[in-house]
Amino acid sequence: MHIESVLSTWEGESCHLRHDRETGVWFAIAIHSTHRGPAAGGTRLMSYISAAAAVADATRLATAMTLKMAVADLPMGGGKSVIALPAEAPRPDLATRQRLLTLHAHNLERLGGQYWTGPDIGTSSADMDILGRQTRYAFGRATEAGGSGSSAEETAQGVFEAVQATAHEARLGTLADRTLLIQGLGAVGLRVAELAADAGARLLVTDLDPDRCATADRLGAKAINPTEATTTECDILVPCATGGLIDTPTAHRLPCAAIAGAANNILTNPEIADILQERGIVYAPDFVANCGGAIHLIGREVLGWSADNVRARTRNIRDTLDTIFTNARRYGISTERAAHDLAAAKLARAEAPADTGQ
Ligand code: NAI
Ligand code: PHE
Repeated sequence: MHIESVLSTWEGESCHLRHDRETGVWFAIAIHSTHRGPAAGGTRLMSYISAAAAVADATRLATAMTLKMAVADLPMGGGKSVIALPAEAPRPDLATRQRLLTLHAHNLERLGGQYWTGPDIGTSSADMDILGRQTRYAFGRATEAGGSGSSAEETAQGVFEAVQATAHEARLGTLADRTLLIQGLGAVGLRVAELAADAGARLLVTDLDPDRCATADRLGAKAINPTEATTTECDILVPCATGGLIDTPTAHRLPCAAIAGAANNILTNPEIADILQERGIVYAPDFVANCGGAIHLIGREVLGWSADNVRARTRNIRDTLDTIFTNARRYGISTERAAHDLAAAKLARAEAPADTGQ
């Protein structure tokens, strides 16, 4: 994989790269679209095998953010940033982390508001607080620091709506006595597990960190090996770890009736949704299912919405998915295609870039 081939085949507006010689870290900020407003999307801090792999991740995630903002009717465009630690690098110590976030804040300042960030894998509200001391362009700071806090609760609420809509479409009825397999019991996955347990679902859970699985014992969840996430029979697979869980061979043999989760880019490419459709597996497109976090961050910090309004908008995820499922059935297309079409129609209607008011 080369940076040239990644960028020459990507339809985004710009990608900004920076290398820090002292730590060997690459920073990539991908701005996919500012058509509906300034680009927004989280900062991912993790190890990558190469700078090209980091750029590939940032660009694909930025594209998904454009679709997410459009389907959620938010006045922002799509972007994403990656702080790419060298492969096999140890976890950065506090001083290194501080240095990396300071450099990233400078990157954001240089872009002058074309791109706003927020938490993503490997970053939290505490990191947004550090960024927020050096740049205005960070959503999701702690409430005490003037931000709207973590987006995980709202993301989980939205994913739970998506799981219920998907169960209905797959003719599974309610979640009572249905088996959900939740991959990743982090901030979002654990909360989805709690909501599903309250609804009477049977839970299978898996996480690379066994201590996280232990936190779901009280929900009556049964832990399975992380390598068995896509081979274990279940009614609904709920990916809440990293992306890329379902590639072509996996899609051909998945033993589930439906898929709805929080992870961004669950499918290694959008065409995999056609295989799922042929197999009768109902798939909730990830950028629809997981948009509760964006609704929380942009709703609270840009649009001045109350918590009740944010929750009401998050509940709308169910209606949006119903529209997508109906269109997919009506036109004989995959749910991913139907979701892209819905986002494209909203993008086409977008007027001049909106002012964030900040
Ligand atoms: P997190 O970092 O709190 O949790 C992720 C969990 O997945 C961790 O416990 C980790 O050990 C586990 N994990 C990683 N790889 C795994 C594997 N191969 N098998 C099993 N477990 C694995 O992240 P968070 O905030 O819960 O987010 C989950 C996913 O949802 C991420 O992909 C994120 O990008 C996405 N997302 C999160 C939003 C938010 O508001 N937090 C919003 C939209 C999407
Ligand atoms: N990273 C999260 C997402 O993928 C939350 C987020 C949304 C961060 C919007 C910044 C801006 O949706």
